[in-house]
Amino acid sequence: MDIDNKENELFYHKTVLVNEVLHYLNPQPGATYCDVTFGSGGHTKAILDSQPECNVVAVDWDATSIETYAPELEEKYQERLQLLWGNFANLYRLLQKAKIGKVDGILADFGTSQMHIKERAGFSFYRDSPLDMRMSPAHQQVTADHLVNKASEEKLCEIFWQLGQESHAKKIVAAIIEARQRKPIHTTRELALIIEKTLGRSGKKGSSKIHPATKVFQALRMYVNQELNNITGFLAGAMQVLKPNGLLLCISFHSLEDRLVKQFFKDKADEGVLEIITKRVVVPTAEEIAKNPSSRSAKLRVARLL
Ligand SMILES: C[S@@+](CC[C@H](N)C(=O)[O-])C[C@H]1O[C@@H](n2cnc3c(N)ncnc32)[C@H](O)[C@@H]1O
Repeated sequence: MDIDNKENELFYHKTVLVNEVLHYLNPQPGATYCDVTFGSGGHTKAILDSQPECNVVAVDWDATSIETYAPELEEKYQERLQLLWGNFANLYRLLQKAKIGKVDGILADFGTSQMHIKERAGFSFYRDSPLDMRMSPAHQQVTADHLVNKASEEKLCEIFWQLGQESHAKKIVAAIIEARQRKPIHTTRELALIIEKTLGRSGKKGSSKIHPATKVFQALRMYVNQELNNITGFLAGAMQVLKPNGLLLCISFHSLEDRLVKQFFKDKADEGVLEIITKRVVVPTAEEIAKNPSSRSAKLRVARLL
C-alpha cells in the first residue's frame, strides 16, 4: 500500500449525507439547530447556508477542530453561529451553561474526523506518533499507551473483541504482552509492527485489504474516548434539550454505534416519546460513495420528539 497516497486520502474530510441531512432537518426561519459534532463544520455550514434565517449551536470535544475551523465560519455567520467546546454526552449541561434554551433539531455525526487522523497523536498507524488517541486531552486522562502497557490480558482481549470485533484478539494480545515485557510500546508504528508480525502484513489470507492493525486501533480509540458511553449519554440528553416536534438526526459509521441509536429510537417510540421518521436506515447514494468511498458505511436515522 502506498502510505503517502493513503495519508492524503485519509486526511481530507468530506462531509457525508449532506442532502439527506438537509432533507430531514428541513431548516426553518428563526429555528435553532445543534450540531453536536462540528468537526470541520461541513454540516453546520450546509444548515446555515440552506436557510438564511436559522441559527446553529455547534459543539465539539476537540479544541483543535474548533480553533481551526470555527473562526472563518464565525466571521461569516456572525451571531447565527455559536461554538461550544465539550463532550456531547453532557449536552444538557453544556447548553444550560451557555444559557441556550431548547432547540428545534440536533445532528450528530459520530466518530472521528480526518483532522484527528492527521493532527492528533496515536490515531493513525500510517504515521508514527505517540500512542495517545485522546480526542480531548484536557478532559481525559487514560491514553492508549496506558492501556497497551498496563491493561491486563483479559481487559485487552475484551476491548479488541468487543469494540474491534477482532477475531485474532487473543493472538494479538499475547504478542503485545510478550513485547511489552521486553520494552514498553510507546508509538503507533511499534504497535502496528507487532500486529503485522502476528497476523502478516496484509492481515488474514483471503480477507479484506484493510491493514491488519485497523480493528485494534479502532477498538483502542473507542475505549480511550468511551465513544459508546458518550452516545448513550448524548441520546438521553437530547431528549431534555429538544423542543416538542424537534428532530434528532444521528449518523453512525460503526455497527455498534448504529445499534445503540436504533435501540434507543425503538425504546423511545415504544414509550410514545419519539416518532421514528426513517423507517429504514438512510445510506449514501452510489454517487456519493463513488466520490467519497469512506462514506460507504455511514447510516442516518431520524426521529421526532412527540
Ligand atoms: C465525523 S466528525 C464530524 C464531521 C462534521 N460533521 C463535518 O461535516 O465536518 C466527528 C466529530 O465529532 C467530534 N466528537 C467525537 N466525540 C465527541 C464527543 N463525545 N463530544 C463532542 N464531539 C465529539 C470529533 O472531535 C469530530 O470532530
